[in-house]
Amino acid sequence: MRVLITGARGKVGSFAAEAFRAAGHRVVLSDIAPARYGLTGERFRYLRADLTDYGQTIGVVMAAKPDVIVHAAGIPDSSHDPGPTIFANNSLANFHVAEAVAQTGVGRLVYLSSETALGFVTALRPFLPDYLPVDEEHARRPQEAYALSKSLGEDICDSLVRRCDATAVSIRPSLVLAPADYALIGGLQRATGRSFNHWSYVDVEDLADLIVLAATTPTPGHEVVYAAQPDNLLGASFRQLVADALGDDAPPLRDLEREDCGGISIAKARRLFGWNPTRSWRDRTNATNDNGGHQ
Ligand SMILES: NC(=O)c1ccc[n+]([C@@H]2O[C@H](COP(=O)([O-])OP(=O)(O)OC[C@H]3O[C@@H](n4cnc5c(N)ncnc54)[C@H](O)[C@@H]3O)[C@@H](O)[C@H]2O)c1
Repeated sequence: MRVLITGARGKVGSFAAEAFRAAGHRVVLSDIAPARYGLTGERFRYLRADLTDYGQTIGVVMAAKPDVIVHAAGIPDSSHDPGPTIFANNSLANFHVAEAVAQTGVGRLVYLSSETALGFVTALRPFLPDYLPVDEEHARRPQEAYALSKSLGEDICDSLVRRCDATAVSIRPSLVLAPADYALIGGLQRATGRSFNHWSYVDVEDLADLIVLAATTPTPGHEVVYAAQPDNLLGASFRQLVADALGDDAPPLRDLEREDCGGISIAKARRLFGWNPTRSWRDRTNATNDNGGHQ
């Protein structure tokens, strides 16, 4: 399979590139930023493009001639840029990539959405989900620019599969941790009280495995799946964490996959794609310097 990965200079895209290559696929990388060591040369073709420019977007898709596009490009959080910048960059890039898929007959789009698409993770006026752990059936109620851009990206995938034969998968990663990031989670683990995402996270290598599965396992239409580790960041009872942090405000709890799960159900990704995330912060915190050359 020939795969084009956008945002390939970044955390998710660079690990996805290695996962596709390890699985024997031909991979073309693209990003607005210059290539870096390890992402060019004989291993990967690397094409620069600003996806907010449609000419550059369709140019890179026509040059790569992919069977599948993994669209990981975007501003990945709401903390460092003004809302209008985030919304314009992410939403225009999402629309242009979907437009290029439709215009060039690419078969499948894997879009990196986010756990923030539901709204409560980055809400300006805080609110709680209707139930926990959340799943793909939960309503989306984004408030600020980043969450809105991720949610709108899912709507763009809906419209794509309505208008042409392409299929699409939106993956909603939880907080993405690369091996080097585990050194930084002590603060999250020591924090008491409420958690922005109910103690969830996803390991970038397990996420890369899911991206490969989503790209290569046929599913019709547009499917949305969450990506999170089966355990929570504190290694504690989820029921107890919710009771202690949320008290009488706690939303109803649904089926828990395990006692120490986080606030995201991954049952759908398991069922649709046979995804079986195996990494845990428990193993990674002993190997935080082994980052495989990634940033
Ligand atoms: N990191 C997380 O915790 C997290 C969680 C949920 C979802 N996501 C989503 O996953 C995707 C990848 O996140 P990441 O952590 O790898 O971010 P990252 O910042 O490491 O990588 C994103 C890449 O996109 C590129 N990019 C941004 N705007 C572009 C444009 N207009 N044209 C071309 N390239 C552009 C950047 O140069 C960068 O290399 C994002 O869409 C993000 O919203 C990330």
